[in-house]
Amino acid sequence: MLSAQIRQSFLNFFAGQDHRVVPSSSLIPHEDNSVLLTTAGMQQFKPYFMGLAEPPSPRATSVQKCFRTVDLEEVGDLSHLTFFEMLGNFSFGDYFKAEAIEMAWRYLTVELGIPAERLQPTIHPDDAESAELWPKTSAKTPYKLTDNFWAAGATGPCGPDSEIYFDWGPSVGCRRPGCYPSHCDRYLEVWNLVFMQYDRQPDGSLPPLAGAGVDTGMGVERLAAVMAEVEAPQGRSAPVSVYETDVLHALQEHFMTSGPSAWAAIGGTTLHPIPFTQLRVSRLLSDHTRGVSFLVADGVRPSNEGRGYVLRRMIRRASLQGRRALALENPLSTSAPLLVELMGDSYLELAERRDVIVATIEAEERLFYRTLEQGLAEFEAVGAQSHGRISGGDAFRLHDTFGFPVELTEELATEANLEVDRIGFESLMQEARERSRRSTKKAFIQRTGLHPTQFVGYDSLSAESVVTHLFDQSGAIEVAGEGRDVEVYLARSPFYAAGGGQVADLGHLEGPEGIVEIGDVQRTGDVYGHYGKVTSGYIGTGDVVRAEVDRRRRLATMRHHSATHLLHQSLRLALGSSVEQAGSFVGPANSTFDFTFDRPLTEDERDRVFRSVNGAVLQDLPQVSRVMSIDDARRSGAMMLFGEKYGDVVRVVSFGDFSSELCGGTHVARTGEVGLVTLSSETSVGAGVRRIEFLAGEPALLRDSALVKAALRIAETLKADPMVIDARVEQLYSTSRILAQELADIKKRQVLESMSQQERIGALACRVVETTDLDTVRDAAARALEQEPDASAAIAFGRGADDTAVAVVKVRRGSGLDARRIFERAADGRGGKGGGSELMAQGGGFEKTAIADAFIDAAAALSPSA
Ligand code: SER
Repeated sequence: MLSAQIRQSFLNFFAGQDHRVVPSSSLIPHEDNSVLLTTAGMQQFKPYFMGLAEPPSPRATSVQKCFRTVDLEEVGDLSHLTFFEMLGNFSFGDYFKAEAIEMAWRYLTVELGIPAERLQPTIHPDDAESAELWPKTSAKTPYKLTDNFWAAGATGPCGPDSEIYFDWGPSVGCRRPGCYPSHCDRYLEVWNLVFMQYDRQPDGSLPPLAGAGVDTGMGVERLAAVMAEVEAPQGRSAPVSVYETDVLHALQEHFMTSGPSAWAAIGGTTLHPIPFTQLRVSRLLSDHTRGVSFLVADGVRPSNEGRGYVLRRMIRRASLQGRRALALENPLSTSAPLLVELMGDSYLELAERRDVIVATIEAEERLFYRTLEQGLAEFEAVGAQSHGRISGGDAFRLHDTFGFPVELTEELATEANLEVDRIGFESLMQEARERSRRSTKKAFIQRTGLHPTQFVGYDSLSAESVVTHLFDQSGAIEVAGEGRDVEVYLARSPFYAAGGGQVADLGHLEGPEGIVEIGDVQRTGDVYGHYGKVTSGYIGTGDVVRAEVDRRRRLATMRHHSATHLLHQSLRLALGSSVEQAGSFVGPANSTFDFTFDRPLTEDERDRVFRSVNGAVLQDLPQVSRVMSIDDARRSGAMMLFGEKYGDVVRVVSFGDFSSELCGGTHVARTGEVGLVTLSSETSVGAGVRRIEFLAGEPALLRDSALVKAALRIAETLKADPMVIDARVEQLYSTSRILAQELADIKKRQVLESMSQQERIGALACRVVETTDLDTVRDAAARALEQEPDASAAIAFGRGADDTAVAVVKVRRGSGLDARRIFERAADGRGGKGGGSELMAQGGGFEKTAIADAFIDAAAALSPSA
């Protein structure tokens, strides 16, 4: 059956059951921010399930275009795709489980004629209703899977589901007798019947859903693969993959035949032998042709954010892989016309936007190719010097200069056995975004004619000022009332704007008619934007306001900032002047300081560093800040950040003779104000960079006094001198470990000695012990073989407090017996599950009352005729 026929047969069947046929919605979700792209057929119906809108009909059916980025990495296996078509039938407060199950079963077995024995329904273990319904409808016992629960997103409609699997047969996948749906490739999930009944809340609770109903989803491609098998004149030895169904297969053939003879003409730079098989790459290209074309048809364009990034990533990945494995140029723009031919009749948007699709993909491919060779050479060079790890900086450069999405760098790195410092990369990306935001902001400031703000916050935390400009989301405004989010510009401001690692000040503006709470302050050049909310009355341009900084928070932040300077200098004194600052965060509750150093600090070094910091605090050194030319600053020996661009005029902050550093931040007047400075942690944040987290002032005092109290409580319990409790605790800990081991040994011995049952059936020694500790049960079996030298195997059961039991089978080496076979015979029909090796097998889940019978069957497995 071709996919077009499958689509039609499904819609006809459900239309015949009073379902309204609804067209697919766009891949770009409508008024729904919970997902980037449409991932399921139910998405367009969410408002009906949530009771937010009245459905035009209580039943609907559709073939929905879906896109799942979570499956991007699995593309090319047997069953995963990025883009796929989902068949679905839906009930909005109309029918529920019984009808949904009945119709699904009838469609598959009667309409399509799939043999019932090749289908296996599954249910959620708690879904008692479906457990009863399935045998009635299909004469099959549904298999219970705890994963059978489906949710539309982190919040919203969800419920237990019943998935129907197709069985490719015991020769596929793991080939184990106990194989079950979802275990391996043997069973393919074909259809998911979701019984929507809850509305998941942000706190995880599950109140009932306003419009409870049914949402089912079945992939056209998976069903087409199943139909290929069902309709084949004779069975096959391997499952049909979704890539062997009509549309994808035609695309795949196009790729396999259109390149210059594969592998040969590859040339260019490849770091390693081609890692992907041609098959896998041609599958990937077929999938990506569809995914990319449908995305473009629905209006997505390549970019560095959101959906556009998914698109860009796919085109670039396809370009790289297509070229390396199949020597194809422009793989997707040349295959897109074929896709339009194959699917354009069913999806008119493809046919209508054919030219846009091809041109968009081609432009992106061209963009990427322009730097691809250089990029690969660069990757090779970086890889060669990377010592196993590609730094965030290198990954960023590959992205920024050569257009390698970081996922592509990761893919190449995995092939070359390298890691990528993803965290370092993300932080550079963040900075780049910040830079671009600022340049957009700059244009905004020029356009709106904003003036520089006079910053008075070095000396005062409160100032009278005038509102020069006011904006809200829509643009410039004259006045804003209570509840409005606003961006306020002042002639002068005591608010520090986020910068140099230091967080922005919070506080409020008090005008003649209202108050604005300030939640963030950002500066562009010398213009300060105050972002906040009008919490009472009104604020308007021209208002004379009192700008008040949250004093306590700012003082706490200043303590941390000044402590950062003292720490920087102390690190250089203790570890040498090769230590360079590599980043910092300064906040009111804590600070982090990153610096170049290639190993963890010793305890002694840490002590020296923090003694030095606190020593400088105790000296109560005065802070002096001076504005001077960059040359004078350099001559004065002030510390500057390597690689940082400074203006001609800089501000130098010094504490006595101890430290002198270029800095725009706010600081205490004398180091004595900093109070205590203590270390929280020291960690690595990438090759050759360490991070110290510390507390200064009040947070340090609070934490240390809590630690002292805890230490005193321990000392009290141990009746020991607080200064030696660490040694005492260590000693206690090691004694307790020894005691715990001894106790476990004693328990085991007791259990074994009080063995409740010992029997002998033929050559099988049988035992029962009163514990489910597998270790002990194993010992019981081993001991049985020792005690009965003429026995060739032993089986020991361990009984638990509930109704279940565990079992271990051991066979004597050289006996020629297989422990797994004996175990299986004992387990058969008694709930037991497990496995092992030829010499030993073990597992649990046995019914306690079945032990005696299990002995007999297990013994039978020893006889040669068995
Ligand atoms: N929403 C369910 C799924 O996507 C069934 O349609 O699997």
